[in-house]
Amino acid sequence: MSVQNLEVIKANSLKGEITIPPDKSLSHRAAMFSCLTGGICCVENFSLGADCISTLNIIKALGCDVEFLSERNLRIDSSNAFKKDRFNLDCGNSGTSMRLFSGILASREIESTLYGDESLSKRPMKRVILPLELMGAKIKHSNFRAPLIIKGGELFPIDYKSPIASAQVKSCVLLAGLNTYGETKVTEPYVSRDHTERMLKYLGADIVSESNVVKIKKSKLEPKNLKVCGDISSAAFFLVAAAIVPDSDVILKDVGVNPTRTGIIDVMINMGADIEILDERVICNEPVADIRIKYSSLKATKIDGALIPRLIDELPVIAVLASQADGTTIVKDAEDLRNKESDRIKCLVSELRKIGVNIEEAQDGFVVYGKSKLSGGCTVECYRDHRLAMSLYVAGLVCNKSVLINEFQWVNISFPEFQSMMESLRC
Ligand code: S3P
Repeated sequence: MSVQNLEVIKANSLKGEITIPPDKSLSHRAAMFSCLTGGICCVENFSLGADCISTLNIIKALGCDVEFLSERNLRIDSSNAFKKDRFNLDCGNSGTSMRLFSGILASREIESTLYGDESLSKRPMKRVILPLELMGAKIKHSNFRAPLIIKGGELFPIDYKSPIASAQVKSCVLLAGLNTYGETKVTEPYVSRDHTERMLKYLGADIVSESNVVKIKKSKLEPKNLKVCGDISSAAFFLVAAAIVPDSDVILKDVGVNPTRTGIIDVMINMGADIEILDERVICNEPVADIRIKYSSLKATKIDGALIPRLIDELPVIAVLASQADGTTIVKDAEDLRNKESDRIKCLVSELRKIGVNIEEAQDGFVVYGKSKLSGGCTVECYRDHRLAMSLYVAGLVCNKSVLINEFQWVNISFPEFQSMMESLRC
């Protein structure tokens, strides 16, 4: 990726209609689960972000024949998958690829190495290594960090009580359970995103969930075509931008509105945002809608507990939103933000302060004192974190002077179209 330092200038207003690009979590799963069917699946609207391309390269390395039928439409033939004894698999920057593939690979008679870039090699993998070891998996690692060398084989089902609400941990155990005789059960402290459960069910797996408990039995997946909806985590940057830039009125088309992901909408409505959910429909077992958002005055809120996993990736941009709301916004119970692509609490607080946000760091979150007039007129860092880069851009839209964001190219990890889409809405 070539370096791109980007200058963001204040916006007068944002107006228009955009189609939100494909969901990252669903694109990963669509490629991975297609690879498990042993047949042919077409995936419509696959994300072209670097993370999902890492997953696509992994399924190719595992033996799938992947053909682009058009820009975002794929044909995946998995009839030759898993035919070798050993695989070397590059997860790039993608935690989802590493953690979900760990469960898939540990339960098969193959040996594989999962490795990643500098940032991924520092992220915690104990959360997936421990439950997989309880199932009998053999995994070599260095202090619970990647590379992970997995000697796969027949596993035992477990009744796993996850200490954290993490869809990656839950999915890892469920995917190991999918290929393990008996019933594998996962209980989480709060419900995390349930895309794995919905898509596995759509493909015919024996899986049932009730609130925070999911049970799966060994199942054969049926090859079926899959369609990916727009990513609410990408939509979040536009929701916040339109809510804080005066006189804005924006329609976001084809956004996934799975209730395990819509914490941001609940929070924004609670803060007084003018949001309408239009034309709700279901695509491949996932609820989808168009969302209209207009500028409005906002008030502070409190975000904690069960709400956190429903908006974990949106918290950086929610800090920007809170800076434009009257009162004190408190975010708690979000310590896992420190384990994302960057330490999202520390990095967010340091960079938002530079542009004039009145924000304080806490061990498990942050406190924002609003409403502030943001000065800008400075250079900020995104710490190679795509969501920090986009959150800083959104803050730049309401700064008096321009903001220079260094290494903005990291946006390509999830949302290569971000800048052009945002620019298309400026009036
Ligand atoms: C994801 C789950 C979340 C999220 C990540 C994608 C997924 O991580 O932050 O961007 O696709 O399962 P955790 O499950 O670790 O919270």
